[in-house]
Amino acid sequence: MSKIDEITREKWILETFPEWGTWLNEEIEGEQVPKNQVAMWWLGCTGIWLKTPEDCNITIDLWSGNGKRTHGDNKMKPGHQMANMAGCRMMQPNLRAIPFVLDPFAVKHVDAVLATHYHQDHMDPNFAAHVVKSGMKTVDINGKEIFVPFIGPKKSVEYWLKWGVPADRCITVKPGDKIKIKDIEIIALDSFDRTCLVTTDDTSENREELTGICPTDMDDKAVNYLIKTPGGNIYHSGDSHYSIYFAKHGKDHEIDVAFGAFGENPIGMADKMTSVDILRMAEALRCKIVIPIHHDVWTNFMADTNEINVLYDMKKYRLDYQFHPFIWEVGGKYVYPRDKDKRMYHHRRGFEDCFEHPQNIPFRSML
Ligand SMILES: [Fe+2]
Repeated sequence: MSKIDEITREKWILETFPEWGTWLNEEIEGEQVPKNQVAMWWLGCTGIWLKTPEDCNITIDLWSGNGKRTHGDNKMKPGHQMANMAGCRMMQPNLRAIPFVLDPFAVKHVDAVLATHYHQDHMDPNFAAHVVKSGMKTVDINGKEIFVPFIGPKKSVEYWLKWGVPADRCITVKPGDKIKIKDIEIIALDSFDRTCLVTTDDTSENREELTGICPTDMDDKAVNYLIKTPGGNIYHSGDSHYSIYFAKHGKDHEIDVAFGAFGENPIGMADKMTSVDILRMAEALRCKIVIPIHHDVWTNFMADTNEINVLYDMKKYRLDYQFHPFIWEVGGKYVYPRDKDKRMYHHRRGFEDCFEHPQNIPFRSML
């Protein structure tokens, strides 16, 4: 059979996706986190893998789905959160802009699966299926073997249950709740994701009427997390918008690294934090490092991180900023505090062993 005869669309898909194969899975597995450090990898969107010296591995908002794949009828559901927000009916052109850097089915071990909220780009049925079907286990604080817990606000747990995650593996958290796993402590905090507040269960014509109603269910819909680790305290704000209450979190907790959902809001949208919000959030949280995330994933919300750096440089002396931004790349690793002075990430460039073997070129000065 010729090469062309063997080729099928399915073969192409299996050979090409996920784009990074198991490269990142292997890197994470092989990482020995030094004492008093914490290693993190950006999985895309607000997905973070966190690993500690005691080999505690947690995922926050791991998601391996995508956005639009066809123009379909070019319509948005009348009760979709964006339709609720902006009174629009045209399909949102939110195509996934980044590769899949992790193979969720090749994950061998994780100690907990966390979600900040229940929107589709923050929870993953594929990963849930893999974790449940493989019978993945961890140990509780007494050293007893338990099935890997799924931790999230009430609405996230509802999704996991609907997907078939057993109830005894789900832990519903609300602001103030604390959970210890190995050498980390997870503290659930208030979310400020107001897009969640305009998200209704019924997205059809019969959508729930929100006009004139003051919502009080933020805690059921979304949480932020503070993860206390041997390397420092990591604040994950999910898809929170800017809030003055970041300042309270900054007073209540020591925060080393803070993640914020950054994006260029299309006209009519107030969904992501802008560059100004990211700096204000960092200042209010009194963190040491602020890392914008989420701007990578949607083609219609992509934003320029240079904007954060330019504004930072404009304002840092006048406002006496005690933090700095770190501009990351999807699939990249950040180790805190080891990398605390870095300002920008670049993937490993390779060729470290150049000239350690004989060249094979016509003459030395040729290149
Ligand atoms: Fe999101």
